[in-house]
Amino acid sequence: MKETVVSGIRSTGKLHIGNYYGAVKSFIQMQHEYNCYFFIADLHSLTTHPTPADLHGNIKQVLVEYLACGIDPEVSTIYLQSDVPEIAELYLYLNMNAYKGELERSTSFKDKVRANPDNVNAGLLTYPVLMAADILIHKATKVPVGKDQEQHLEMARTFGNRFNRLYNQEYFPEPYAFTYAKGLVKVPGLDGKGKMGKSEGEGNAVYLSDTPEVIRKKVSKAVTDGGPTAPNQEKPEAIQNLFELMRIVSSADTLDHFEAQYNAMAIRYGDFKKQLAEDMILTTAPFRERINEIASDTDYLRKVARYGAEKARESASKTIKEVRELIGFRSF
Ligand code: ADP
Ligand code: TRP
Repeated sequence: MKETVVSGIRSTGKLHIGNYYGAVKSFIQMQHEYNCYFFIADLHSLTTHPTPADLHGNIKQVLVEYLACGIDPEVSTIYLQSDVPEIAELYLYLNMNAYKGELERSTSFKDKVRANPDNVNAGLLTYPVLMAADILIHKATKVPVGKDQEQHLEMARTFGNRFNRLYNQEYFPEPYAFTYAKGLVKVPGLDGKGKMGKSEGEGNAVYLSDTPEVIRKKVSKAVTDGGPTAPNQEKPEAIQNLFELMRIVSSADTLDHFEAQYNAMAIRYGDFKKQLAEDMILTTAPFRERINEIASDTDYLRKVARYGAEKARESASKTIKEVRELIGFRSF
């Protein structure tokens, strides 16, 4: 039997190349090897109170981009989280054994509280419980995600194991973060300060749907410095980040060339950024063309979502039936 894979992306807008290299690229590779469930985490995105129109538009955007990247709805199960009510039910059960203290200690919760102190809602606190429900509902063991999700996976294992202990059953298997790369991926942003992300400010992220002109402009504005002042010197974070981006999108020869130039103090950041922008344009070109094509085919999108919901619910309802039985909700 093939191992089961689950992963999702919140419907908060367009996908950036961090989402692609951290998660979606593995989805495409994994779908032929594993039993895969890829979803759009639209319930998770409610923590920030989107308007109905924005929510709907963002869900569509992620669905379109999943398909444009090459997730095949005939091979993988693609669905909206909100189309599978069994997930919300499992979330409720898992919440009974998720404790305030451990939820408050989660790094992503603390980051969100710092960023938005006026919107510390219960959905935000229990975000990792809903994520655990997403994964456990299909009894998945492999979860392709970027490095920032590692702690959430650990929490999913904790909640699954706690349920198993409480009901004295080896019911849920342990899910682990998965990547084909050497370690979990963290794609840096263009602002010189850490990861690429949607909420990190304008210009930090390069989106799969960005036009070549937009990509050139964003990369040309990326943070640099006055250049190396000694041969072979260690790179400051902003420069290291741009080299890391080049390692991801460019050929090894190109990367070696600019590394050598940096080490020889001969690098011209203008040329370096031009090359980086052109390689980003090349790697995203195939997606860009398909995004527009798929977005206009509403009939197809409707069919994909309906078919995916049906397949996801088949698996989810089987789990919920067993979970209810274990908890003690039994018929007379
Ligand atoms: P964002 O951080 O932009 O809001 P999400 O939180 O929705 O994006 O992330 C969806 C998936 O993309 C997760 O698996 C996450 O680990 C991955 N991801 C997001 N940003 C990066 C990044 N900069 N590098 C690697 N993976 C990332
Ligand atoms: N928490 C993930 C993120 O912010 C998205 C997500 C929700 C997820 N549920 C999941 C990822 C289940 C993998 C598996 O990126």
